[in-house]
Amino acid sequence: MPIRLEDIPRLITIADIKGEKIFYDLGSGDGRVLIGFARAHKELACSGYEISSFYVFVTNLKARLNRLKNCRAKKADMFTVDVSDADIVYVYPNPKFAKLINEKILKNLKKGTKVISYCFPIVGLTPTKTSDIYGKREIFLYKI
Ligand SMILES: C[S@@+](CC[C@H](N)C(=O)[O-])C[C@H]1O[C@@H](n2cnc3c(N)ncnc32)[C@H](O)[C@@H]1O
Repeated sequence: MPIRLEDIPRLITIADIKGEKIFYDLGSGDGRVLIGFARAHKELACSGYEISSFYVFVTNLKARLNRLKNCRAKKADMFTVDVSDADIVYVYPNPKFAKLINEKILKNLKKGTKVISYCFPIVGLTPTKTSDIYGKREIFLYKI
């Protein structure tokens, strides 16, 4: 299930982008978050890794239709890609992946990288900021 569209502005707000250049959505689904960030911040290179070829196609089509040159999706397993150059990483994790996300992805990020998680906290990290709607649909911001 994708993030609710009305929650994307909260993601963008909590990301508090100030000169960051590289954004990844790991498990980017239909690309709604990538499109949201790419539209809001044209200088931000927004890349998604997604296991479903169909979603990759849909995302890249949306990016073309919206004339967003700073947005693209690739078919890949998020647990094997290199995102060590990230300034911001966003995940909407399946809770059963929570441990894997920390072990396989986050340990390779550089100091200062922002990690944003939707609905589920990342095991082993303490958020620096959170945002919710009456206690629901929580967003967690972490800094590596
Ligand atoms: C909960 S959805 C989130 C979609 C999008 N990030 C959002 O916030 O709307 C999770 C997505 O991760 C994808 N996914 C699951 N396992 C994956 C993996 N190992 N590598 C890449 N994508 C994966 C699914 O196909 C699905 O589109």
